[in-house]
Amino acid sequence: MERKKVGIAGCGLMGGGIAQVCARAGLDVVVLEADEGLLKRGLDNIAKDLEKVVARGKMTAEEKDEVLGRIRGTVNLRDFSDRDVVIEAIIENLEKKQNLFRELDIICPPQTLFCSNTSSIPIIEMASVTKRPGRCIGLHFFNPVPVMKLIEVIGTILTDDSAVQEGVEFSKAIGKTPIVTKDRAGFVVNLLLIPFIVDAIRALELGLASAEDIDTGMTLGCSHPMGPLALADFIGLDTVYYISNILYDEFKDPKYAAPLLLKQMVKAGYLGRKSGRGIYLYNT
Ligand code: 3HC
Repeated sequence: MERKKVGIAGCGLMGGGIAQVCARAGLDVVVLEADEGLLKRGLDNIAKDLEKVVARGKMTAEEKDEVLGRIRGTVNLRDFSDRDVVIEAIIENLEKKQNLFRELDIICPPQTLFCSNTSSIPIIEMASVTKRPGRCIGLHFFNPVPVMKLIEVIGTILTDDSAVQEGVEFSKAIGKTPIVTKDRAGFVVNLLLIPFIVDAIRALELGLASAEDIDTGMTLGCSHPMGPLALADFIGLDTVYYISNILYDEFKDPKYAAPLLLKQMVKAGYLGRKSGRGIYLYNT
């Protein structure tokens, strides 16, 4: 693959991880944030992550500097005007995503491939506000992005087959394994993962077993790297709640419905690791 120019909108947990992975694969990366403060925080987090990789002896300090040298931060969307691929990884808010896609459509050349990292919003919602719905796909990464090998490549009924293929090739070029899925709420992974997590929370709510024992059941009984409750805290209880609501709204199947315990924890601000308390307590 030629040295692609990639634009990543959003430098939070996902956007920063995507920027890091693309730069490590040798791509030219521009990463956008809403203001200078958020941008600095995002770029600092990427640098800290890479310092850990160096400390573990998996990269030299020189290589780290080269990787960081391939990432340029910006707060100006116009800096995406020369990008071959743009990956949107901003907040899960449809209006904000649509506004971004509308602006990108004006700024970027017609051949630029538009990708969204949304976990749950149908890609067609963003594609349909652009004049290039055939060039819009989903590229769904998993957290932690530098570690998780999978990318879901999503094509809508308006997407050109060639654009899906480009998404597949792009995923391989950055060292990931793509799977192709249709544009349906939850795609493949969250469609299966969210009811599993929600069932584990339901089991906890029913007093079936302690949180630790439910998780041990799945780590030692099924070799999962994390139990479903620890994973829920890792993903963020607010995110699990949000996706379960989207799946329930779409399919009206009670297996996706958020248990009361999950709803109450989110309302209480117990969001998992990021807030210091979720199903488990964390030292922040
Ligand atoms: N960033 C970068 N690297 C990280 C990292 C991070 N946040 N967390 C861990 N790593 C690296 C470590 O440095 C280490 O690398 P090395 O092997 O090169 O030394 C390797 O990953 C293993 O890490 P640790 O030994 O510290 O920890 P574990 O072995 O316990 O692994 C884990 C941690 C990778 C998070 C593992 O527990 C895991 O795979 N958990 C499941 C994660 C998962 O399922 N994610 C998907 C969530 S769903 C999703 O994202 C979709 C969304 O739409 C909801």
